[in-house]
Amino acid sequence: MKTVTVALGARSYPIHIGDNLLAECAPLLADTLPRQVLIVSNATVAPLYLERARAALAALDRRIDSLIIQDGERYKTLDTFAEIITYLLQKKHDRRCALLALGGGVVGDLTGFAAACYQRGVDYAQLPTTLLAQVDSAVGGKTAVNHALGKNMIGAFHQPRAVIADTAVLATLPEREFRAGLAEVIKYGCIRDAAFFAWLEKNMAPLKRREPAALAYAVERSCVNKAEVVAADEKESGARALLNLGHTFGHAIETALGYRDWLHGEAVAAGICMAADLSARRGMLAADGYERIVALLRAAELPLAPPPRVTAERLREGMAVDKKIRDGALRLVLLRAPGRAALSDDFTEEELMRTLRAFAGGARPQEAAGARSQKAAGARKAASDA
Ligand code: NAD
Ligand code: GLY
Repeated sequence: MKTVTVALGARSYPIHIGDNLLAECAPLLADTLPRQVLIVSNATVAPLYLERARAALAALDRRIDSLIIQDGERYKTLDTFAEIITYLLQKKHDRRCALLALGGGVVGDLTGFAAACYQRGVDYAQLPTTLLAQVDSAVGGKTAVNHALGKNMIGAFHQPRAVIADTAVLATLPEREFRAGLAEVIKYGCIRDAAFFAWLEKNMAPLKRREPAALAYAVERSCVNKAEVVAADEKESGARALLNLGHTFGHAIETALGYRDWLHGEAVAAGICMAADLSARRGMLAADGYERIVALLRAAELPLAPPPRVTAERLREGMAVDKKIRDGALRLVLLRAPGRAALSDDFTEEELMRTLRAFAGGARPQEAAGARSQKAAGARKAASDA
C-alpha cells in the first residue's frame, strides 16, 4: 500500500492506494469513523462492493447504515442530495456521524456535499471506485450537485478525512469508463509532471490492460500531483485552476451534447487537444510537444475532437459559462510543453475561433497546427530579435 498525504494543516488527510484495500479498510478508518456511519453508494456499485465494505467495517463497533441512490450524472441533483439528508434525519444521525462515499465521482460529489451541509458539516471519507474518482474527484474536497442551468453550480469545499483507493475494484469498470479516467491521468502529465508524461508514453499498453503495477503507479502519481496542487491552493485562487486543462472546451462539448452520449473524460480529452492546438497557434507550444500530447491521447483511445454535430459557434457559446471567467474575460489553461501549463487570457477571439473551427464539425486535430505555430514562433522571434 502507498499513502499520499494531502497537507492542509489540521485538516490533512491520507490517500491510501493499493490492491484489495476495500476488504482491509477497517484499520485505515478506525480513527476516523464515529459511532454512526452512513455508506452512500449507487445501484450499480452497491451490488458489487457494498457487502465487501460492510463486512470489513463489521470489525469496528459502529452502527453502519447504507443508502443506495440511482446511478447516473442526471441524479447528481438537489433532489438526491435531499434524499441523503432525509435518510440521515430519519435514522437519527447526529452531528458526530460520518458519511462514506462508495462509488464514482457522482456518488463522491453528492455524498461530500451532503456531509458539508448536514447539521452544518459532518465528516466523510471517500472510497472511490472509478479511475476518474481515484485520481481526481475523491481528492481535494470539491463537492457539488448540478443545476439545470449549469454543472456543479451548487457546492462547497469540504475535505474528506481519508481516501481509500482500492485499485482491485477497477477490474469491473466498463472499458469506456476506464479510458475516460485516463484523460484525467494524462492531464497531470500535461500540466506539471513531464517525467510522468514520459512514463505514460512508455506504459500506456500495460495501463490499458489494467496491469496492477502500472495502475498503482498511475493512481499514485496522479494523487501526488493532485495533493500538491490542492495543498498549495485549496480554494482555487491560483494554481488549482491548472487542473482544469481541457475542461472549458470539454464542458462546452458536454453542454452541447446535453450531458448525454459522451463521458466527462472523453470531452476533456478532446478539450486537451484543442487547448494544445490554441497553445501551438499562439507559438507557446512547439510542434513536437503538440504531437506528443495528441499521440498520447490517441494511444489511450480517447476522442481527439468533438463529435461532428457540434459546431464551433455552439462550442464558443458553451465556453461562455465557466468558473474561470474574470470580469467577463475568458481564461484558458494553455500549454508550454508536455509537463508545463499556464492560465492565460493572452489569445484573441479570432485565434480561439480558428481552433474551434479546426476541430468542430468532424474535423480531426490538425497535426499541422503545431508545425504552423513553430513557424509562427520562429517568425515572431526573428521579428523581436530584429
Ligand atoms: P460516475 O460516478 O458516474 O461513474 C461512472 C459509471 O461507472 C457509473 O455508472 C458507476 O455506477 C459505474 N461504476 C463505478 N465504479 C464502478 C466499478 N468499480 N465497477 C463497475 N462500474 C462502476 O462517473 P465518474 O467518471 O466516476 O465521475 C464523474 C463525476 O465526477 C462528474 O459528476 C464530475 O463532475 C465529477 N468530478 C468531480 C471532481 C471533483 O474534484 N470533485 C473532479 C472530476 C470530476
Ligand atoms: N478536478 C479539478 C479540481 O479538483 O480542482
